[in-house]
Amino acid sequence: MNYFKSIIFLFLLISSCKTNEKQKIASPISKEASSDFIIAFGSCNNQTLPNLLWTEIEKNKPNVWIWGGDVIYTDTDDMVYMAENYLKQKNNEVYADFIKKVDVLATWDDHDYGLNDGGTEYPKKAEAQQLFLDFFDVPKNDNRRKQEGVYYSKDYTINKKIIKIILLDTRYFRTALTADDETEKRYKPNVYGEGTMLGEKQWKWIKNELQNSKASYNIIVSSIQFLSNEHGFESWGNMPHEVDKLITLLKSTNAKNTVILSGGRHISEISKSEIAELAYPLVDFTSSGLTHSYTDYKGEPNKYRLSNVVSKKSFGVLKFNFKTNVITMEIRGENNVIYETYTQNYK
Ligand SMILES: [Fe+2]
Repeated sequence: MNYFKSIIFLFLLISSCKTNEKQKIASPISKEASSDFIIAFGSCNNQTLPNLLWTEIEKNKPNVWIWGGDVIYTDTDDMVYMAENYLKQKNNEVYADFIKKVDVLATWDDHDYGLNDGGTEYPKKAEAQQLFLDFFDVPKNDNRRKQEGVYYSKDYTINKKIIKIILLDTRYFRTALTADDETEKRYKPNVYGEGTMLGEKQWKWIKNELQNSKASYNIIVSSIQFLSNEHGFESWGNMPHEVDKLITLLKSTNAKNTVILSGGRHISEISKSEIAELAYPLVDFTSSGLTHSYTDYKGEPNKYRLSNVVSKKSFGVLKFNFKTNVITMEIRGENNVIYETYTQNYK
């Protein structure tokens, strides 16, 4: 009998070990006692596709949800059609319920801006900006209603520590990219010094934001990837001088612990660069898409990549621990499955 019991015990032990193996990617969804602040973010949300992730995102109890762009898909010059598409998303019951409970910040990418891979040449950008702000119920007297572009910043103060979130507009002012006619890639880098990613005014603004930042962490949200630059799609790498300009700004302003959040690729990955004379490693956490993804992704080079590439529907979570100065970054998906976790220590 004892022998029989031990066999059963052994069997249960082995099967529970197996379960635990799998549970490495399962879902501790309660707010960890060690998290002082939680950001959830993502991008690429087609209003006509099932929105499966909102309830899962909410379970992570984020203090803020950040849209990294492609809030809807509406490549058009027709503002009536664009407004209808926003309404479709606004009428999504699960999303409507989600935004009642979580603070929401947003920037746009090309498909909510109105033009695939579009920049400053898009003729309806001013009108599209107002529709974007309408969708987020931004008051009529808000500065974003009067300025060109949707760039914006917000400080969160938690136990006397500040987290600053800086949302960039990489569309409104962005000048032409250079098509790559020689390889299979869509774009090649512009001649060094040619073109602007943010435009003069926005560059002045971000300099000011970083210079005056009292934050322990500065989170820069860019709809397109900052570090990964070998894939040939849109990225900051299309304008190498603009990459250098932002890095120089990060160094000269002494803004503390900057993290970049990006999207637009329909894959999720975490990249990191150790930059000389920068006091911290620069992480670029890319998260997309929410309703659809690059399912036939077969690989691409990225010398900065830390994590595996996730080509399933996903969202990103950042958990801040002020005592240890650690940010835990997670790529999560349906059923809150954790695809990737990365922990970054800061000084
Ligand atoms: Fe997208």
